Amino acid sequence: MDPFRENLFAGKTAFIAGGTSGINLGIAKRLAGLGAKVAVAGRNPEKATAAAAEIGGPEVALGLSADVRIYQSVEDALDQAVARFGKLDIVISGAAGNFVAPALGMSANGFRTVVDIDLNGTFNVFRACYAHLNRPGASLIAITAGQAVNPRMLQAHVCAAKAGINHLCRVLAMEWGPSGVRVNGISPGPIADTEGMARLAPTPEAEAALTSRIPLRRYGTKDEIGDAAVFLSSDAARYVTGTILDVDGGSQLGDASTRDGTHGLA
Ligand code: HXC
Ligand code: NAP
Repeated sequence: MDPFRENLFAGKTAFIAGGTSGINLGIAKRLAGLGAKVAVAGRNPEKATAAAAEIGGPEVALGLSADVRIYQSVEDALDQAVARFGKLDIVISGAAGNFVAPALGMSANGFRTVVDIDLNGTFNVFRACYAHLNRPGASLIAITAGQAVNPRMLQAHVCAAKAGINHLCRVLAMEWGPSGVRVNGISPGPIADTEGMARLAPTPEAEAALTSRIPLRRYGTKDEIGDAAVFLSSDAARYVTGTILDVDGGSQLGDASTRDGTHGLA
């Protein structure tokens, strides 16, 4: 049984930057399944159109082409979403880029590219959307990652960008709280069937090594991140702002591997 009330988001509209694939598309489907109208935006227009069809077609979803690195592009996409659905209540900033490389194997442009998509992109999305949802009940969510808190080798760009996102959320929560606008983050752990994990753990061996260290001993699902987004966007989270919600099977607690793979006594 669905833990959330049917049509919880009837009458609500969401804009999801980076919502054309993976985890963010999963969030889009979850919100739409609970009655929201959803606009998803990514660079590739064909991918955006296909995502809108997958979410539920033109009655409930709109696929938009936008590059979050370009402020005007973000503003145009938001305007199109508002023109189509009349208003915005929920905005999610989830566009991201990642590749695995040591800092010395990363050009200045490589580092800048990821910071530009993840961190500057989140600023652009949140800064531009404020004009559309400056009212009590509005919810902004950034999709961050454990790299924000725990430094990881070969991830200098992502660590720096996601740490910036976490702190940006906190500052905006303070500045926009008086208007009733809430700003939070979701920090997913490794999520199955995603581009992110295809890049970070590309082999079954790498996946097994990773899950052996996670307290809950498995990857998460897109639906589990969707459920966190539902909670944070709903009235149940009306007194929650400036928080980063870890949805990661306990990954951030540290390495929970044991010799027999079950408990700590072996
Ligand atoms: C070193 C690399 C590189 C690599 C790209 N670059 N790949 N450097 N090793 N493997 C460098 C390029 O050489 C170039 O620098 C610069 O990065 C920009 O590359 P472009 O290809 O021109 O950039 P662009 O077309 O804008 O593409 C951005 C991208 C790409 C990030 C490089 O991978 C992308 O579009 N990614 C989106 C999808 C994605 O990454 N999804 C996963 C998100 S998951 P020079 O100097 O040569 O010009 C995620 C996981 C978080 O974030 C945590 C999970 C636990
Ligand atoms: P994904 O499928 O690659 O999703 C990335 C999305 O961002 C796509 O819709 C992509 O579409 C869009 N995008 C990329 N660059 C963009 C740009 N410049 N402007 C606009 N849109 C852009 O990745 P994912 O693995 O599901 O990750 C989704 C989010 O979860 C990311 O924020 C990631 O950091 C976070 N995360 C993922 C994991 C994981 O296990 N996968 C773990 C922790 C955190 P286009 O390519 O068409 O632009």
